[in-house]
Order: sequence, then structure tokens, then C-alpha cells
Amino acid sequence: MTAPSDVGIEPAEQPPDAQTGSSRSVQPSLGEAVYAARREAYMKTIGSRAVAVIHSPPQSVRNGDVLFPFRQSSDLHYLTGFSEPETTLVLRPGAEKARIVMFVRPRDSKRETWDGRRAGVEGAKERYGADQAYPVAELDKRLPELLANIDELYYSLGLNPAFDQTVAAIIAKLRLSEKKGRRPPRAVVDPRLVLHEMRLRKAPDELTLMGRAVEISIEAHIAAMRQARPGMTEYELEALINFIFRKNGATGPGYSTIVGAGDNGTILHYTENSCTLGENELVLIDAGCEYQSYTADITRTFPASGRFSEAQRRVYEIVLETQKSAIEMTRPGITIDDIHKHCVENLTAGMIALGLLEGSVEERIEDKTYKRFYMHRTSHWLGMDVHDVGAYTNDGTPRPLESGMIITIEPGLYVAADAKNVPAEFRGIGIRIEDDILVTDAGHDNLTAGAPKEISDIETTCASSQFDVL
Ligand code: GLY
Ligand code: MN
Ligand code: MN
Repeated sequence: MTAPSDVGIEPAEQPPDAQTGSSRSVQPSLGEAVYAARREAYMKTIGSRAVAVIHSPPQSVRNGDVLFPFRQSSDLHYLTGFSEPETTLVLRPGAEKARIVMFVRPRDSKRETWDGRRAGVEGAKERYGADQAYPVAELDKRLPELLANIDELYYSLGLNPAFDQTVAAIIAKLRLSEKKGRRPPRAVVDPRLVLHEMRLRKAPDELTLMGRAVEISIEAHIAAMRQARPGMTEYELEALINFIFRKNGATGPGYSTIVGAGDNGTILHYTENSCTLGENELVLIDAGCEYQSYTADITRTFPASGRFSEAQRRVYEIVLETQKSAIEMTRPGITIDDIHKHCVENLTAGMIALGLLEGSVEERIEDKTYKRFYMHRTSHWLGMDVHDVGAYTNDGTPRPLESGMIITIEPGLYVAADAKNVPAEFRGIGIRIEDDILVTDAGHDNLTAGAPKEISDIETTCASSQFDVL
């Protein structure tokens, strides 16, 4: 495994804030050179006749005057390290001047008193690599000239309807000036194809951040195993996990933390976390922190009491053996579909052995009845987004894994509390085991191997003293 310390990155310099002299202004998480190199690589691929426009997502109202916390678009963050809303990045590989243009919120001491610090136009140029930067209010006026007479506009239609309208209006406006020699782009191309291929293969600096996200998340899972007791609530465990994320400098969870006790563990995206842990229940925790915009994604399932019952043990061992053998087969050249097929076969054999299904493995896969107990896919890409970007197929054919990709491997078995025609002892058992696997030249590294998953290791961890949260 690539240990976090293996690949050194210098933290970005902390220059004083342009206007206030404060050293507290937000900095890019990696050195500016990292983002510059990414931009150059991207611009080289799209070519000198193209311009890319990448826009941050709109801020969303939670309720009343309260907004949801803003999270920068991963694409925009990947190319700039800039985390503020209302940002548009324009990359112009063929331009002589102003190849990198940013539209940002301008400095505004009144607004900053209310909403927080801004890098502003100067900050965008000084710290985020913009050759030119303008206040966001100037976008409508300036973007048309940046898009005139290029061949391809790399812009993601359909993600942000309001900004789609802005782009459409610019194209319409440029059509009006064709006679004067200012024409609109000839084609609109999805910028994500190239960019997401870049993001799919993790560079050493990204593996360092992933390594830290994983390390913090493992600490949180171990703490939850140590702390959990029958009578505790799911939300107490959620609070403990999220506390450990923040205590270690993570932004928080990379996705909503799932803590499901008993049959809540059979609900795949259970996030209410509102129940009490029962005496003989398993607890399924699917939680990973986001550290510097990279997220871990780990699931562990353990007994609230610290000891697996016989029925729980039988189901757990099937999922565990399936997961371990799936990890073992991971190497360049095989596909996520190969891994999924292996898991479906193993789990279906396990369902028959447990008496959840009858007949042969082939029959139950053929008629898809295995989906009663294993209804999701086994793997997804992992990185800046928990379900990270990148094509899963080449025109419908599963793509082979390559070194530098990170996938999850997360088989499970879920027997609903009211499942018909199954042995009663298995009802209400939900188990998933999920690790984050880096594909390497030699095969793979299990980045999350430090989170206990062998039955004996889980029982030892659960029996160890409570985690000292402060
Ligand atoms: N935590 C979401 C997932 O496992 O895919
Ligand atoms: Mn996952
Ligand atoms: Mn997960």
C-alpha cells in the first residue's frame, strides 16, 4: 500500500490575504503547480481549437434562509483547487494571452463580514493560477468574446439549467455577429470524457490524500466498534464517527453516514440513524470521510454485543469469503463485471447453503431471484466523488482495470425482516463489507485493510476499552 508518507507534497505557501493582510485566507489544498500541470494536460488533450468552460454548482436552499453547505464541483476543484461558489473557469489552450480565465466572486468587505472570506479577482490570479480573472457579474459581457471563433466548446450541458441558458444565449448572440466575423463554436462537446479519464487514474499526490481519508475513516470505524453497546443509539455512533472525521481535519463525511442496527442494515441507503441498538443485533456502518476533496468509502458490520450469534456468523462468513476472494482477483486486465459475476456466484451459492433459496446456482442467477438478497452492484470507482467519475464500459463492453484506478469491493447479503420462505433465524440480518482497492501493476493494494473484518478481529476490537473521544 502506498503509505501517506511515501509521496511528499509540500503544503501550499500561505501568503497574506491581498486586502486584509490576514494569513487566514483559504489556500489550494495542493501546491499550485499540481493544478497547473492538470490544466496543461487537459488543455493539451482538448487542443488549441477548443475552449473549456467549467462552472461551479448552484448553491441550494435547505430551508428558510439556510443554505446547504457548499461543495465545489469536483471537476473545478481538480483543475484549480478553488472552493468558492459562483465560479466559472475558462480554459483556452489556443489563446496567446489569458489562457486561463476565472470569473469569481469579487472581494466585498460587507459580504465577507456576513458570508466569509473570498479570494477575489486578485486571489484568483495570485493563488489559483488565473491569467485573467473577473468578477462574476462580468461573465455575460466577457464570455462571448472568449468563445468566439473556436471550433469546440467543452461544456457539460444538462448539469446546471441556469448556466445552460447563459451558454445558449451566448451562442445565439454570436450567431448575430457572424457577418462581422464572430461566429459561435461549431460544436459543444462534453468536457467530462477527457477530464474524467484523467481523474480516474490517481496520481501520487491524489493517493496521498486518499491515504489520509482512508486512515481517518479506519480510525472512525474502529472507534465505533469499541464504543457500540446495546442500548446506544445509531445517531450516537454517527456523531462519534463524524466527530472523528472533523477532529482529524476532514471536511466531514464524503456521503451521508449510514448506521443501521438490526434490519435497518437491510436498507441499503439507510441514513435516518434514529434507532437504538438491540441486544442481539448487528450494526452496519457505511462511512468514509472527505479529506481535501477525496473520500473513503468503508462498510463494516459487527455485533452490538461484541459477539456474533451463530446465524449472524454463518451469513457473515459467506460475505467475508466472497469479498476476500473478489479482492484477490483484482489486478489490471480484469473488469468490474468479472468481480461482480464472481460475487454473485459466491453469494448465490451461499444463499442456497443457508436455505434462503433452492435449486442450483445457475438457475437462481438465471431467474435473478438472488436479487432478493443481493440487489446492488459490487464495485464503483472511488476518488473525489464517492461514486467517482470515469466510463465503466468502452461502448458497452466492460473496460479492463488499469493501474492507478481505485474501486470499492462491497458485496453484501440482506434478508428483510419480513422475508417470506426463509429460515427465521436469518430474518433481519443485513451485512455488507466494503474496502477501497487501488489497482497496481502488481495487482492491488487494499487501502482499507486496517479496518477489522475477520470475525476474531472484530470481536477483539469490540471487546477493547471504549474509545477516548477527547
Ligand atoms: N456509501 C455508498 C456506497 O457504498 O456506494
Ligand atoms: Mn461504495
Ligand atoms: Mn459505502
